[in-house]
Amino acid sequence: MRERRFPDGFLWGTATAAYQIEGAVSEDGRGPSIWDTFSHTPGKTFEGHTGDVACDHYHRWPEDVRLMQQLGTPAYRFSIAWPRILPQGTGQVNQRGLDFYDRLVDALLQAGVTPFVTLYHWDLPQALQDRGGWAERETVEAFAAYADIVARRLGDRVKHWITHNEPWVVAFLGHYLGVHAPGLQDVRVAIQVSHNLLVSHGHAVQALRAAVPDAQVGITLNLSPVRAATDSEEDRLAAQRYDGFLNRWFLDPVFGRGYPQDMLEQYGELAPTVEPRDLDAIAAPLDFLGVNYYTPAFVRHDPSEANLLNLALLSPEELRAAGYETTEMGWAIVPDGLYELLTRLLHEYAPRVIYITENGAAFADRLVAGEVRDPRRIAFLRDHFAAAHRALQEGVPLRGYFVWSLMDNFEWAHGYSKRFGLIYIDYETLERIPKESYAWYAEVIRANGLVEPGR
Ligand code: FCB
Repeated sequence: MRERRFPDGFLWGTATAAYQIEGAVSEDGRGPSIWDTFSHTPGKTFEGHTGDVACDHYHRWPEDVRLMQQLGTPAYRFSIAWPRILPQGTGQVNQRGLDFYDRLVDALLQAGVTPFVTLYHWDLPQALQDRGGWAERETVEAFAAYADIVARRLGDRVKHWITHNEPWVVAFLGHYLGVHAPGLQDVRVAIQVSHNLLVSHGHAVQALRAAVPDAQVGITLNLSPVRAATDSEEDRLAAQRYDGFLNRWFLDPVFGRGYPQDMLEQYGELAPTVEPRDLDAIAAPLDFLGVNYYTPAFVRHDPSEANLLNLALLSPEELRAAGYETTEMGWAIVPDGLYELLTRLLHEYAPRVIYITENGAAFADRLVAGEVRDPRRIAFLRDHFAAAHRALQEGVPLRGYFVWSLMDNFEWAHGYSKRFGLIYIDYETLERIPKESYAWYAEVIRANGLVEPGR
């Protein structure tokens, strides 16, 4: 038997996001968000799926909290829908929107579950997008005002706050590749948006600290170790550029170093307009760094397309040909990548505390005779927990681990076709059916670690 115990008080959790689970998009005064608009635009999501109903968490949350309690998780990360709180993005506050999260927080605390609140998980009020969205400074200020409103209402009970989820995804998938809302394809705008998101993070940190003096505040970044396809000089340089684009562009300014010089040179006249004091705001000291890890990036030099960085990511077929197992998303399964990432963060950035705010996998789960067996998800989680444990032993200040996701949900442009949950959702009946991995995770939590033969 090999035991891997985690430190006492380690926060095992699950994570979700508002638009992916709530549904009830026009209830109790909620305004439209850019994801309502995007998902209702023909051709943008898998088979035209939308979040109109999603998992109907807005009505079924008591059952979802019970399922968390049964799972025994000490923590839960969820996001607040900005358009429920401020239907127009600014101005009039919608009390019924705040009431919903107020009740949810009370129920979580009663169930012994510590809430981690994300303020922005991609559902910008459409009214702000109509005036330019994240490309405009108005949205930066609106975000800080929204943070203040939410913090004042929930801050007596919610002590863990995450400003943004994955600003890289918002900026570049939303404004450069256009595969996420708002669906723009303008690299100059995308780069400016990345900066504006970071500034809004800094201003929100200030607002949160002012409203909740004992708050623990962080930001969640999607980070990946970057591996060059070959050891050629060209591929190695391509990997460096991608690392700058995905990781350092966000980590460096958040940790007080400003934007990486090589990327400023790379972007040239596309570099963002930076106002005085922006970099100071972005560098506001944080209590923790939230890390979302799914897979490394495998990169090769590719001058053939006129793309921003002259590189290409390896396709799922190429990854499988190279011997990697992949998930339903086509992402290579590389638990060591998590170890590599966490130890790099320790050595290069030394965050005070790290939470893994998302890690998990989509597989083609099937409901058979009332049960869902998902041994591949169990293996995926076990191997990633083991990698995290190795990082802990090296001194990485990891304090918690949130599995993506509590339940199957609306996977953005993929609609309901990708299942990441520990709980299966029957989208016909909205019935919740805990998978085998749910029971397995409950055991991990009970043992506070992995107790199992081998490996
Ligand atoms: C992350 C998102 C999360 C979910 C997972 C699979 O990029 O933060 O909402 O979609 O990927």
